[in-house]
Amino acid sequence: MTGPKAPAHGSPRPLAGPIVTLDGPAGAGKSTTAREVACRLGFRHLNSGTFYRALAFALLDAEIVPERWSELRTEHFDALPLRVEPTSEGFRTMLDARVLEEELRSPLVTGEASRLAAFAPVRAWLLGVQREVGRGGRLVADGRDMGTVVFPEAELKFYLTADLSARARRRLRDHGVDAPTVAEIEEEARRIEDRDRCDSERRHAPLRRPDDAYEIDTTRLEFDQQVEAIVARVLGAG
Ligand code: DC
Repeated sequence: MTGPKAPAHGSPRPLAGPIVTLDGPAGAGKSTTAREVACRLGFRHLNSGTFYRALAFALLDAEIVPERWSELRTEHFDALPLRVEPTSEGFRTMLDARVLEEELRSPLVTGEASRLAAFAPVRAWLLGVQREVGRGGRLVADGRDMGTVVFPEAELKFYLTADLSARARRRLRDHGVDAPTVAEIEEEARRIEDRDRCDSERRHAPLRRPDDAYEIDTTRLEFDQQVEAIVARVLGAG
């Protein structure tokens, strides 16, 4: 990914503005919540999952098969025609001139992104990219390791959870399935569990709750309630 370049293993630099992090397992509503919180605060939204997805997509597009991903190093990632660009609300990923959007949500890319995220050189390279785009602060960053690894100095950290079936329903709704059958919910729940296991059990930057994060269980919260809970805390802390 070109554009921002930062020492991949460098320590976080001082920030120009506040950072709010939202971490948590798949389907807890992090990205939609982070986007809305960022909008209400007038901050940018950094959806770190799209960077992992974009990298997986770019590798597949370049016909570099997943069996080879464990051998890849910085120079391979640098050689991809992948870029991150700031937008008014956040960041977009591009492959050559193509803006990556819906293609990043396919089941193939979703599954492969999770496997890709386990490799240390991938995480080190994306760490540099994420810190560089976040340098100006005024950011709401969501992912798995935002508060623990990427922005450990963030002003406010949140950890979003929800029970498995609520997360499965939300994921299905996001994909346009408003009245899922029990079997569909169970199948989606299994996929989420697999991804959670992969994300939590990996050796490098596994998903975990930052010690200094506020935990919010969103199972029984309306979307607006969870957004307001976070915004109120951020404004109260300011
Ligand atoms: O949040 P998401 O579902 O779009 O993320 C896709 C994958 O990327 C997820 O399975 C794990 C990985 N990921 C990560 O390891 N660290 C992050 N900060 C964000 C995502």
